Amino acid sequence: MNREIKKICCIGAGFVGGPTMAVIADNCPELQVNVVDINKERIANWNNKDLSKLPIYEPGLKEIISRCRDTNLFFSSDIIKNLKSADMVFISVNTPTKTKGIGAGQASDLKWVEASARQISKYSRTGTIVVEKSTLPVKTAQTINTILKYSKESDSKNAKEKKFTVLSNPEFLSEGNAISDLVNPDRVLIGGEDEISINALMNIYLKWVKKEKIFTTDLWSSELSKLIANALLAQRVSSINSFSALCEKTGANIKDVSLAIGLDKRIGKYFLNAGPGFGGSCFKKDILNLIYICNHYGLKEVSSYWQKVLDINSWQQNRILSEIVNKMFGTIADKKLAIFGFAFKANTNDTRESPSMHICKKLLEEGAKLAIYDPKVSPEQIKKDLFDKKSINKDDNLQICVSTKDAVLDADAIVILTEWDEFKNLQWKKISLLMRSPSWLFDTRSICNIEEAQNHGINVWSTGFGKY
Ligand code: UDX
Ligand code: ADP
Repeated sequence: MNREIKKICCIGAGFVGGPTMAVIADNCPELQVNVVDINKERIANWNNKDLSKLPIYEPGLKEIISRCRDTNLFFSSDIIKNLKSADMVFISVNTPTKTKGIGAGQASDLKWVEASARQISKYSRTGTIVVEKSTLPVKTAQTINTILKYSKESDSKNAKEKKFTVLSNPEFLSEGNAISDLVNPDRVLIGGEDEISINALMNIYLKWVKKEKIFTTDLWSSELSKLIANALLAQRVSSINSFSALCEKTGANIKDVSLAIGLDKRIGKYFLNAGPGFGGSCFKKDILNLIYICNHYGLKEVSSYWQKVLDINSWQQNRILSEIVNKMFGTIADKKLAIFGFAFKANTNDTRESPSMHICKKLLEEGAKLAIYDPKVSPEQIKKDLFDKKSINKDDNLQICVSTKDAVLDADAIVILTEWDEFKNLQWKKISLLMRSPSWLFDTRSICNIEEAQNHGINVWSTGFGKY
């Protein structure tokens, strides 16, 4: 049996909700897609006529927004109206790690998911299909189900009659490639118990995704698959980063090692780039969730195994910090460091868990003067990330720059922390003339032409390079 879906409402207009709904609207012109958010400023930015002001930077996103916005894709802060009319509701709200209470530092904070479920229960019609899109700990669907079933908040007289079905449809998009990941996914995963609801969601994806790529399973397997996929990807990054240190000690070169091992089909070439550690909103949070679940079930060995993946990530960042301080004669106090890149990876303006942010905080604590340039992260965001309540609160040592040239003027060192394309072919001759001597390049992403920088008198350290 088929269930026709005419209107979708997505709660949360963030890095997941925004691009996902844009791609659905673009491929399903017959559907009306309404994206809602409590953050009015974010909604205003999604509706901004100037597409360079969209709240999220993703290659290819603004083209889709210009095609679909106000045609079949709408951004609004009227949550109630859009919930009332939707046949299907996606939950794409944030689920950061809890900072206090039981499970603090490990479990996800589900207060935004819970608030969304309560709103759905109150305002949505009976029969609405609820799809969890945010990355969530296993068994969250059960929580959502319970809230939908027993919530007393319904404003309908027939509250007890209201019935909802819950599906898990985890997002595997990787920021910076979100649009191509959504348009051409490796797989679409749908978990659920109700076949009619599963088919309704599957029919949406079938508008542009081949049936062979759509995989259905039960709710918990679907939720767990998302966490495990991210844990395995993060593990590869920690593995290669651990070996980058060994290469540095032994005179080998991690890039060649990565290429050589990646040629083995069983290993594969992806996720073998050594660097300043993984960032982003998912990897750390999802591993912490797994650790929490494993501890809950008494699987101590399993939880400590995954804890090590996180430990190596922090160790890599601390190790890079030590290299910078040691190479610069044991102190960076009052020295000017040009920081290239603040986003957690290239092609995004997202800074959540960015290695650059963590390393910059530590460099500031060591007394360095930072001149930060990132092509897409706003100065306000950089300040917000660096001067939160816990960190030092003096920004005399921070300059936010509009170009690499602006940042390197009189700098003692350049630290490359995000692999933006424009950092790959820097003009080392010009740069060397602008810097103070002795000058240093710390290329944590190993993207520069080391020889060229050296030829212009710059000292170089690059992750995983043992030979200079
Ligand atoms: C990840 C998953 O890839 C995606 O499927 C999931 O839905 C959300 O989490 P994302 O966090 O956007 O996506 O970025 P990803 O490309 O996975 O990179 C994560 C981090 O690992 C970045 O900081 C990146 O720089 C780092 N990384 C990645 C490396 O250091 N080396 C690599 O070889 C690959
Ligand atoms: P993600 O990367 O998971 O998309 P973001 O933080 O970018 O995370 O986006 C989540 C969005 O969800 C935010 O814009 C936030 O304002 C929104 N949000 C959180 N709770 C609610 C809620 N109850 N109703 C509507 N929007 C919400």
